[in-house]
Amino acid sequence: MGKIRRMTNLVLYRKYRPQRFEEVVGQEHVVQTLTNSISSGNISHAYLFCGPRGSGKTTLARLFAKAINCKAAEGFEPCNKCSSCTEIMAGNSMDLIEVDAASHTGVDAIRELIEGIKFSPVKSKYKVFIIDECHQLSKSAANALLKTLEEPPSHAVFLLATTETHKMIPTIVSRCQKFDFKRLQIPEISKKLQFIAKKECIKFDDSALSLIALNSRGSFRDAESLLDQCISFAGQNALIKSQDIKELLGIVEVGQIAQFVDQLIEKNTKDAVLSINSMADTGVDLQEFAKTLVFYLRQSLLLKINPNFLNLQNSGLSAEELNKMKAQTASLAQKDVQNMLELFIDAENRMKYSAVPQLPIELAILDITHKEN
Ligand SMILES: Nc1ncnc2c1ncn2[C@@H]1O[C@H](COP(=O)(O)OP(=O)(O)OP(=O)(O)O)[C@@H](O)[C@H]1O
Ligand SMILES: [Mg+2]
Ligand SMILES: [Zn+2]
Repeated sequence: MGKIRRMTNLVLYRKYRPQRFEEVVGQEHVVQTLTNSISSGNISHAYLFCGPRGSGKTTLARLFAKAINCKAAEGFEPCNKCSSCTEIMAGNSMDLIEVDAASHTGVDAIRELIEGIKFSPVKSKYKVFIIDECHQLSKSAANALLKTLEEPPSHAVFLLATTETHKMIPTIVSRCQKFDFKRLQIPEISKKLQFIAKKECIKFDDSALSLIALNSRGSFRDAESLLDQCISFAGQNALIKSQDIKELLGIVEVGQIAQFVDQLIEKNTKDAVLSINSMADTGVDLQEFAKTLVFYLRQSLLLKINPNFLNLQNSGLSAEELNKMKAQTASLAQKDVQNMLELFIDAENRMKYSAVPQLPIELAILDITHKEN
């Protein structure tokens, strides 16, 4: 099963990665600045893309590389037909070098890269270096990179991407033009899922797609791989209902989470522990439950801090669910929500190593329900 999943993953992933700037969802400010600089021929030597997982960093880095080396560009959009474009799309361009710093933490990859940098591009205008997860470069690799950024050859363009800007050395950051990618909103994700489902001729009921969008927590990558799993489960021409998705993915409904939070508020240890165990028995993925719970509590905390933070558009919740959340947060102090969040974040981490997966959650429940007011 795992193998099949990964293969279909690759298909959807390749198939629906935007190949033109106009296909990118959200990130308008980034797209506009990049396309303006292509139109005006004002290309910098170093760009830094910061932002959450699956928000389009690698996608836009490759798109940008394609656009600046395209031999038949139509305005700022790459033609996707010339030799440079097709080589980049096939992943075998000599002038686009991608390094995943998470897998090459050593100096070697960067050293090789830097030794090669003095050579002109093979057949394109620019030699483009994409360094993904660049906060993970070792110290010496980062220093080597910094040296290069201080005096880059005129044909070199660096595109650095990171999910954790604060872990980057500031001297690198200050040499780059920096872009902050936004976490995608649930309606944006739903819309693209609808588009993909239509292209793939897969019928979903509406609530099924929003259930997937909600469970992706703002990451397109996660949304698309959830959709992938649903498609490989249902086969072509099937109608996928939210109930199928819940069962297939072990997804937790907001209603279940809300009920669980009620039990915590009432300090009802017994029912809270029973809920967890019956979920485990019915095949709910508890790791998934913990993640969704943390997401729910975070939304509650935002609501507590400012009631206008959350609305029907950005929360992914139904009117009923949102009202329920509002009522719950009203009965809690901000400190209580914070405390729950900390305990469950911790529990979620510890579950990965626990022989009894529900134990860390049970301990968190005890902590919360036995706490003096
Ligand atoms: N803004 C977007 N518009 C349309 N599709 C997107 C967008 N962002 C991501 N996707 C989809 O999600 C997939 C993964 O995106 P991408 O690899 O660009 O994410 P990333 O920001 O580099 O994430 P990570 O930090 O995990 O590497 C893409 O193949 C694409 O299909
Ligand atoms: Mg990436
Ligand atoms: Zn082209």
